[in-house]
Amino acid sequence: MDELRAAETLEALRSALGDAVLARADIPPRNEQDWSPLPPVRPLAVVRPRSTAGIAQAMRICHGRGVPIVPQGGLTGLAGGALPIAGAVAISLEHFTGIEEIDPDTSTMTVRAGTPLETVQRAADEAGLYFALDLGSRGSCTVGGNLSTNAGGNRVIRYGMMRDMVLGIEVVLPDGTVMTSLNKMLKNNAGYDLKQLFIGSEGTLGIVTRIVLRLYPKPLSTMAALCALRSYGDVLKFLAEIRAGLGPLLSAFEVMWGDYWQVATEQVAGVRNPIVGVYPFIVLVEAQGSDAESDPARFGRVLEQAVEQGLIADAAVAQSLADVKAFWGTRDAAAEFKQVLGPHLSFDIGLPVSAMDDFAAECRQALLAELGCRSYFYGHIADGNMHIIAHVPGAEIQPAEEINSCVYRLTGKHAGTISAEHGIGLTKKPYLGLTRGGEEIRLMRLIKQALDPRGSLNPGKVIDVDL
Ligand code: LAC
Ligand code: ZN
Repeated sequence: MDELRAAETLEALRSALGDAVLARADIPPRNEQDWSPLPPVRPLAVVRPRSTAGIAQAMRICHGRGVPIVPQGGLTGLAGGALPIAGAVAISLEHFTGIEEIDPDTSTMTVRAGTPLETVQRAADEAGLYFALDLGSRGSCTVGGNLSTNAGGNRVIRYGMMRDMVLGIEVVLPDGTVMTSLNKMLKNNAGYDLKQLFIGSEGTLGIVTRIVLRLYPKPLSTMAALCALRSYGDVLKFLAEIRAGLGPLLSAFEVMWGDYWQVATEQVAGVRNPIVGVYPFIVLVEAQGSDAESDPARFGRVLEQAVEQGLIADAAVAQSLADVKAFWGTRDAAAEFKQVLGPHLSFDIGLPVSAMDDFAAECRQALLAELGCRSYFYGHIADGNMHIIAHVPGAEIQPAEEINSCVYRLTGKHAGTISAEHGIGLTKKPYLGLTRGGEEIRLMRLIKQALDPRGSLNPGKVIDVDL
């Protein structure tokens, strides 16, 4: 981009938004990268508006001058969707935070998109209600980012993904038009459900500014257990048993393969291992109910049955909420693998549940044989969502293309998807065609062209579009 246009854009942004605009040496390093393995990029400017009107103004200024815009939330995305583009203006929602309303009658919360997930969870809790989305980066990620990536996380088995928790949105289109659609009703079939276009489109179609979230009654009991199992066949049988035994109480079923478990419990600081002995599978099972008296007994009974059937080899049952938290620590430890292993790639592939272990065995073997690459498997197995952390030990620069190709080749072989929850961003864009057909991609392009004909918003993310 020419210097003149850049200077003129900065001037227009400054006169409209004042000190919300940061340029050059004032750009905070945190806004130059996300949690993807991609190197940092310095944008032309970072703008941190404090209102929807400010966001719209910034977008109008950029759009009118052909300057690309990159929306940013908590910057915890793993696919590079919020990574700046050189010469672009990053519009960060970090100063557009706060809960506008909690409505107990409709069981909704209206919230600004820059609000951290954990703040939303806490506010719902204080109001005697429950916001069900939960993931390891809860303290840093924002609800706007959760919406843009259609985040999944730990309780999808019970409550669904972010898409299932959004009733209404306010969104700014690339040219600065504000569309306010803060619907609170569970049912609204009046024409196209426009919010769905923006949920999961990774900031390529609009910037969502306010969200109406669906809340649930606060659970009155939480039970959890870490269970050691001897085979993947037993894991599947245990899942079927626990689903039948707990019904709607089942709120998480996280599976950790033995190699993941070993790193998490032996190398990540502060993680406790309550399982004696070494097993190929550890399952974290959690249930939430509404009867603090009888629920723990029911949970215990279902586990006992699984022990009697020989499905569970060993188990630790949480005796307190502190135990529940500590058990989740074994699963949240995934976020610390970077500190322990150094540079690595992470995956969020989807696979038919029955194919998971065959895939893991093949993938582990192929990565090691072809690239000397070590891999660790875990995930939201009941959702058909497997995570993999892969790295060539000691390599400062990981052979990303080779690792990706190997993992995605086997994902395709087992009829899976290259992304079950983290999205496409930049890192998975070259592989989109492995999971989506030609007609699907053509329709995605048409939608992008219709909403962003000048290609101003997050260009080059998710799909490439000819203008
Ligand atoms: C997890 C995130 C990274 O499940 O998706 O840990
Ligand atoms: Zn996940």
